[in-house]
Amino acid sequence: MKALEGVRVLDMTHVQSGPSCTQLLAWFGADVIKIERPGVGDITRGQLRDIPDVDSLYFTMLNHNKRSVTLNPKTEQGSKIFRKLIEECDVMVENFGPGAIDRMGFPWEKIQEINPRMIYASIKGFGPGPYDDCKVYENVAQCTGGAASTTGFLDGLPVVTGAQIGDSGTGMNLALGIVTALYQREQSGKGQRVECAMQDGIINLCRVKLRDQQRLAHGPLNEYSQHGEGVPFGEATPRAGNDSGGGQPGTILRCNGWETDPNAYVYFIAQAAVWGNVCDLIGKPEWKEDPGYATPGVRLDKMKDIFATIEEWTMTVDKFEVMRRCNPLNIPCGPILSMKEIAEEPSLRDTGTIVEVDHPERGTYLSVGNPIKLSESPVDVVRSPLLGEHTDEVLESVVGLSEEEIAAAHESGAV
Ligand code: COA
Repeated sequence: MKALEGVRVLDMTHVQSGPSCTQLLAWFGADVIKIERPGVGDITRGQLRDIPDVDSLYFTMLNHNKRSVTLNPKTEQGSKIFRKLIEECDVMVENFGPGAIDRMGFPWEKIQEINPRMIYASIKGFGPGPYDDCKVYENVAQCTGGAASTTGFLDGLPVVTGAQIGDSGTGMNLALGIVTALYQREQSGKGQRVECAMQDGIINLCRVKLRDQQRLAHGPLNEYSQHGEGVPFGEATPRAGNDSGGGQPGTILRCNGWETDPNAYVYFIAQAAVWGNVCDLIGKPEWKEDPGYATPGVRLDKMKDIFATIEEWTMTVDKFEVMRRCNPLNIPCGPILSMKEIAEEPSLRDTGTIVEVDHPERGTYLSVGNPIKLSESPVDVVRSPLLGEHTDEVLESVVGLSEEEIAAAHESGAV
């Protein structure tokens, strides 16, 4: 028994944001029927291919545990099949460009009319407003949501992060909206519309930067290293390099091997509560009582030098040793793990966070598993479907077509 067993999802998603949402629903046990354009499919099947003519890792890693059906709702026969699928499903998810589903002939009003219990969930780049008809990809969302202006170094360009916070981040938001709407439907008996804008999702993740924007009106942001270095603040929350976004000073420090290994670094937090331990660890016990160092406030304008001293120590050991030595002292730190190290880490395989999947055309590959672990709803990651692999099966068992009708649908180009 899986948490979402019995929930059927009409999955009109493509690229990353929508598919990351429906993949989560599938991992929780929903029957996710992915609709793809006949002969073409989700564009990512062919993008960034590493093996000729084989579905890309981009596609496979976002579409596990789904069924693939080819269907063109813009054809007469396809429209009828699509209508029947709306009747038979609990949830419909889409992340096409603005208006695409309407242009297929299925605006929200019509979907509601066909199935009043339907939960209709969409991702767009922007919510209602000046940009609501724009197409949006990950980095557009990061730039318009405040992430890029606050990421990077003060003297450098705005920077986007490698974590796909606009796509997979918004996909997570949408999944939560969907299960919440399913929960409300238990009481109300009615479906509803769920909308997530990528810009909104990024702004939500950037709340500490909006916090700092308002704090600026009351004086400099003392905990930013820029303050300690005597660089004045401008009108907007600045880029803060690797400064911690919270109340405890932190930064990235070099470790043994940094000259040749681009990831021989550690994030080190000089947490006030364990300041004494930090001093002992780096061979500066005198700083514990020194009035120029003993309290967090007096240390603020010295953090650059303090971290330089800590780094003299971290450079003598490797990043894992820093963690091994700091953890028992309650000093929070994190080695900078490369993707290679993450891929090879046995404990991440044990928990199913990284999984090895077998695919008939590509062989085995690594993917992310479900980051949300439910004790009563275990996840088995099943390979992504080939294009149209389940078309006939779904047309027969969900849409209720006969063998002849299925053949006719193929003949007409609807599927
Ligand atoms: N059969 C026939 N046509 C289909 C189809 C199917 N099964 N599935 C999709 N299509 C058509 C749509 O009807 C639409 O055609 P139309 O615009 O002529 O009406 C088209 O394919 C899809 O358009 P669109 O979604 O705009 O694709 P795009 O490649 O131009 O843009 C995005 C891609 C991601 C920029 C855009 O979809 C978008 O802004 N999505 C919302 C935000 C988002 O999720 N972005 C992140 C993606 S990771």
